[in-house]
Amino acid sequence: MAQGVFRDGLLAGKSAFITGGSSGINLGIAEALVKAGAKVAINGRNVEKLEAAVKGLQAHGTALGVAADVRQYDALAQALQTARAAHGELDILVCGAAGNFPAPAAGMSSNAFKSVLEIDVLGTFNTCRAAFEHLRKPGACVLNISAPQAYLPMAMQAHVCAAKAGVDMLTRTLAIEWGGLGIRVNSITPGPIEDTEGMRRLAPGDDSRGKLLEALPLGRLGTKQDIAQLALFLSSDAASYITGSLMVCDGGQSLLGSGL
Ligand code: HXC
Repeated sequence: MAQGVFRDGLLAGKSAFITGGSSGINLGIAEALVKAGAKVAINGRNVEKLEAAVKGLQAHGTALGVAADVRQYDALAQALQTARAAHGELDILVCGAAGNFPAPAAGMSSNAFKSVLEIDVLGTFNTCRAAFEHLRKPGACVLNISAPQAYLPMAMQAHVCAAKAGVDMLTRTLAIEWGGLGIRVNSITPGPIEDTEGMRRLAPGDDSRGKLLEALPLGRLGTKQDIAQLALFLSSDAASYITGSLMVCDGGQSLLGSGL
């Protein structure tokens, strides 16, 4: 099934693994990859949510769910083994699992800060590290999901700012280390995307949404499809000379020097 400007079967025969794939932007990416012909394994912590998401994906192609917490290396490595046994060696790895809640630094426990750091930074490292031995096919690639907090300091987001900055440096470092093996490593930085947990948590209510829309250069919120189209491009051979890039998809929001 053709999607946007992409041809039918763009990723036919490819195998993908997506953490945090049960909902939101990551599920949107999973759906786009499945529709493009890839065999997709999604990972999440909540088995019920995971099963419901897999059922939806299977309406469009080949998908399976593998439960694990990205903070638990052994469980994640096992999930990757299961995906490989079912779908073969990996072509596309999407590290999307993330944690977030708005809280002032002075009102946040050490454990609260650590939880987000561990899900975002350690979780991304664990996923890339455990997937490394499965990423041996020519053209294999990694996509890390970042956030504007990586480069814009934001009140109530000390944990996420620190974590996503770490994720971006991991992307750039792995791109150097793994480039010689033919593995491309890039990231996507979504701006304000409608109907996501991030928007519900960080811009709840019509007031904050209205202010955001007024300021956005492109005058609209992004959609999961906008992010999925970028993921399709970065996963495809059209992006074969792109690595270590932090690609912002935000309707121009970052030009204003402000986030949500
Ligand atoms: C202060 C909080 C808090 C809050 C949790 N904590 N919520 N502190 N304000 N609102 C504290 C807890 O009290 C606890 O500290 C510590 O954080 C860990 O909480 P747990 O619930 O035990 O941890 P866990 O079950 O692992 O949950 C992790 C989580 C949770 C990050 C806290 O929110 C989560 O699972 N989120 C995953 C889903 C999610 O956040 N999706 C949104 C991603 S959006 P103490 O000291 O009490 O033990 C995103 C994009 C943003 O990332 C970009 C938008 C532009």
